[in-house]
Amino acid sequence: MKKNISVIEGDGVGPEIMKQTIKILNAIGKKYKHKFNYTILLVGGKSIEKFNSPITENTIKTCLESDAVLFGCVGDPKYDNNPIGMKPEDGLLKLRKRMNLFCNIRPIISYPELDTSPIKKNIRDGVDFIIYRELTGGIYFGKKGRNNDKAYDYCVYSKKEIERISRIAFKASSFRKKKVTLVDKSNVLETSRLWRDVVKKISLDYPDIYLDFLYIDNASMQIIINPNQFDIILTDNMFGDILSDESSVINGSIGLLPSASIGNNNLLFEPIHGSYPKAKGKNIANPIGSILSSKMMLDYFGMKEEGNAIEYAVKKSISEGIVTEDIMKNNNFLSTEDVGNYIEKYIL
Ligand code: IPM
Ligand code: MN
Repeated sequence: MKKNISVIEGDGVGPEIMKQTIKILNAIGKKYKHKFNYTILLVGGKSIEKFNSPITENTIKTCLESDAVLFGCVGDPKYDNNPIGMKPEDGLLKLRKRMNLFCNIRPIISYPELDTSPIKKNIRDGVDFIIYRELTGGIYFGKKGRNNDKAYDYCVYSKKEIERISRIAFKASSFRKKKVTLVDKSNVLETSRLWRDVVKKISLDYPDIYLDFLYIDNASMQIIINPNQFDIILTDNMFGDILSDESSVINGSIGLLPSASIGNNNLLFEPIHGSYPKAKGKNIANPIGSILSSKMMLDYFGMKEEGNAIEYAVKKSISEGIVTEDIMKNNNFLSTEDVGNYIEKYIL
């Protein structure tokens, strides 16, 4: 198969983790006889530097025309005081919106070999849930601004926006443990009350799936005290952002977590972590979140065996202790590059 992939390394550790990811994809291409064509594009701080904008129309156009986008991470403290629309993160948000990537999928599984989590082993063992985070609406995209001594961010959701991601989440659950948990704040927020109404109605089309509800404050506690209760967590943009970082505590590092963002016609894959500016250029960042994102991409291409090969190699690197410092308690950790090399060799 031949696939055209837009590659956005981004800021901070982005180039380092993406280098390993491309290496792994090339290994897959070689072994399974696929041709991956990469187009390198700038988004975030690098785009601000070169084009005075966190993303350009040309970049968006190329992404829209490619089979998928592989995204590293964006963000640089240098731009903290930039105005609305001019921060590195605005490039990513605009890309999500323009590609209509309304459904963000963040799988959380526990790796029992790791001992870097502050959570007790008997609580985290066996965890396997997926966060379905709405990605193009809510408080992230509502009207925002400042006047005098006030600031505001509007949170708006339409029925349609809730419906389309909810259906995907219910469908996913029907192939799993058949449980959807809607996380909201419907005791306070009107948008959350709309979420509940719409999701309850949709659940009637999926009678074999158990639907339950948690307020976001309670859900953040439940993820730590009993993460095994979850199958699919369905939630809005902001709550999904927060819960996914929190869920990374189950293994003790956010560097492990991948994500897929899907729309009706487009695909983007990115680790859930940020640009980790302090680690930039040090060859210490964990490449696994990005590598597993490329595995999710192969799944969406219908390359199941290829995706499994990546997953298997990653699991092997973890069980063999071929890992970066974030998931190693003693001094036996390896570099970003070493981990990538091991996974590459294992695949070939
Ligand atoms: C994420 C990130 C982004 C978000 C940032 C970089 C804008 O934290 O993908 O979770 O808040 O969505
Ligand atoms: Mn986040």
